[in-house]
Amino acid sequence: MELKNGENSYGVISRANHWISAFLFIGLVILGIYMHELDKGPEKTELYALHKSLGIGLFMLMILRLVWLKVSPNPEQLSKTKFEHILGHAVKGILYLAMLILPISGWVMSNSGGHPVAFFDLFTLPTIVGENHDIHEIAEEVHEIGKWMLLIILLHVAGALKHHIVYKDSTLLRMLGRK
Ligand code: HEM
Repeated sequence: MELKNGENSYGVISRANHWISAFLFIGLVILGIYMHELDKGPEKTELYALHKSLGIGLFMLMILRLVWLKVSPNPEQLSKTKFEHILGHAVKGILYLAMLILPISGWVMSNSGGHPVAFFDLFTLPTIVGENHDIHEIAEEVHEIGKWMLLIILLHVAGALKHHIVYKDSTLLRMLGRK
């Protein structure tokens, strides 16, 4: 079992991070859209707390991912055309940015709205901004970008499937740890 990434392979650390993050990311977007529509009540309160905890989890994985990228860089993308090379990198770049901007804007939004951000019952993140209506509104606008991430994920998955089905290369297989 190889921990590090190779020239044409993903090691177990990157693969585990990718699939756990993917599961969390998709879950967070769906949960975020669903809980927003709920009327005020205990279910909404509980789901907001869960959304924050999972969001902190994704943020911690993103920090680990950035550290791991320095230790063990990802294999180069297998691109057929220049357009697909740029598109693939752009889509992954947007996902990277989203995994930083969405948790941070959520943190700012909660704190500026006068609410703490806790990771389950384990710890509470420090308050990064005090209560402030204007900052809250801006952070809310930024956080709403999250809704559009379903489209970006769709493009990302379509790219992975095109490589697997049309080009029959190792793009998807190496992320699954197969040869
Ligand atoms: C079922 C859903 C998914 C599939 C099938 C999938 C598939 C893949 C594949 C095959 C690669 C490797 C691409 C390459 O080597 O060039 C990859 C990389 C990547 N994926 Fe996904 N992915 C999925 C969901 C997601 C989600 C939801 C995210 C958002 C967090 C995400 C973020 C990334 C990132 C950032 C990379 C770049 C490599 C890395 O840093 O780990 N993926 N994905």
